[in-house]
Amino acid sequence: MTVGAPPTRATVLILDFGSQYSQLIARRVREANVYCELVPGTTPWSELAKRTPSALILSGGPASVYEPGAPQVDPEALRAGIPVLGICYGMQLIAHHLGGEVEPGSHREFGPAVLQIEEEGGLFAGLPAEMPVWMSHGDHIPRMPPGFRALAKSANSPFAAFTNGSGIMGIQFHPEVVHTPHGREILRNFLYRVSGLSPTWTAGSYIAEAVESIRTTVAGGRVLCALSGGVDSAVAATLVHRAIGDQLTCVFVNNGLLRKEEAERVLEVMHRDLAMNIRYVDAGARFLGELRGVIDPEEKRRTIGRVFIDVFEAEAKAIGEIDFLAQGTLYPDVIESTAADTAASAVKIKTHHNVGGLPAGLRFKLIEPLRYLFKDEVRAVGAELGMPEDMVWRQPFPGPGLSIRCLGEVTEERLAILREADWVVVDEIKKNGLYRQVWQSFAVLTPLETVGVQGDYRTYSNVVAVRVVTSDDAMTADWARLPYEVLAKISNRITNEVKGVNRVVFDITSKPPGTIEWE
Ligand code: XMP
Repeated sequence: MTVGAPPTRATVLILDFGSQYSQLIARRVREANVYCELVPGTTPWSELAKRTPSALILSGGPASVYEPGAPQVDPEALRAGIPVLGICYGMQLIAHHLGGEVEPGSHREFGPAVLQIEEEGGLFAGLPAEMPVWMSHGDHIPRMPPGFRALAKSANSPFAAFTNGSGIMGIQFHPEVVHTPHGREILRNFLYRVSGLSPTWTAGSYIAEAVESIRTTVAGGRVLCALSGGVDSAVAATLVHRAIGDQLTCVFVNNGLLRKEEAERVLEVMHRDLAMNIRYVDAGARFLGELRGVIDPEEKRRTIGRVFIDVFEAEAKAIGEIDFLAQGTLYPDVIESTAADTAASAVKIKTHHNVGGLPAGLRFKLIEPLRYLFKDEVRAVGAELGMPEDMVWRQPFPGPGLSIRCLGEVTEERLAILREADWVVVDEIKKNGLYRQVWQSFAVLTPLETVGVQGDYRTYSNVVAVRVVTSDDAMTADWARLPYEVLAKISNRITNEVKGVNRVVFDITSKPPGTIEWE
């Protein structure tokens, strides 16, 4: 059983027809403080109706509505009397099902276009008469359904926006992407003006609902939560703690592969400041013992995963009767694991990232208080819960920790060098106000030794690589164009402050073809 906050509030359902931007639509709606969820586009109306949606948004998609096998919206959804906004393919579905025409366009429209508004108000209230929008469609609509009228046009789309005047509307462009600068306002107009929704979905309202739901679910039971030091598990634990206090026990396993002062920091915040019940397990020696001689990155991951489960299970047993396990699963994980086959390969690439995850066979019921949230919302919830900024804004850190940044064998000595070098990188990135702008910033200890000269001595010691990347979701990334002065400072400090390093290099590889981590 999985328990999250039940969607009792006004909900917009986004029918996903496979557009690469579907998640982005959901994020934009959430940013407008309206709750929404993504569901498969072909879900029958009878299913959708159970959620009592306040409005529907039909996403774009790669198919052509008239082709056999193209995903279709249940026409009942268009007759249900609730507001519907079709975007691109979604608009074509409306045209197709309500008696308009859709055909392959003679001019495909990809990229920027100029939208000319023909009817003010409603969707376009408060917006200029002409504005840039982002188009991405091959098909077009030569004839609108009966009863529809055009709201806007572009050079290649005489009906770039249309409506039936009673809540069903379509737009040919993508309001969710940044290349449509007024896109947010258009979506807000649909939500607030057309659908009559209010911006009531906030971190505060989410916390209130989640706390209520966790209390009801857990009742007098006991909950266990594994803390990793990362944002998600910390916020999940804090939320559960807010709901049920001492019925929650957290386990924090120090695997000996954490960054400098990381374990102390987590304990200080969660235990001292937030007064949580924490069992701290210092299992560093056990992990390092099992990692001795292991060089292969995947073998490192497997070893760490196996030892973690062992240690965690032993702790769980020692605690006694436990009813629930709280986990920091986020909405993108939920979407990915329920998405169609096309997304399955992406999911597989990331399975190895679940080190620190728990064995499927555990007999607890799951509580996932963040399973409807995007990362930025988790941060907002954390901040609202009073968690310190540096915890809420922490960059992602891999489950196998420093082991996959310590190329070759992982030893205490090499970890010590890596920790010090990493500290300098993060310290300088923070001092220069770059910590939140970049996705991750860290040091890698290479297995290379090179010749150097330090003072009057010739040295032969380690090479440290500095990796700083920008990214939105870690699926792709680019190396951050750090100012030379910052790079110079990092290099100078590492070679001066970290014993055993005489050379620093900066990684200028994007992902793909590289990965963010070196192993
Ligand atoms: P890569 O190196 O695949 O990393 O570009 C993408 C993101 O995932 C993190 N990462 C991991 N996280 N266990 C984790 O929990 C892992 O084994 C793992 N490997 C990579 C990496 O830090 C980046 O954010």
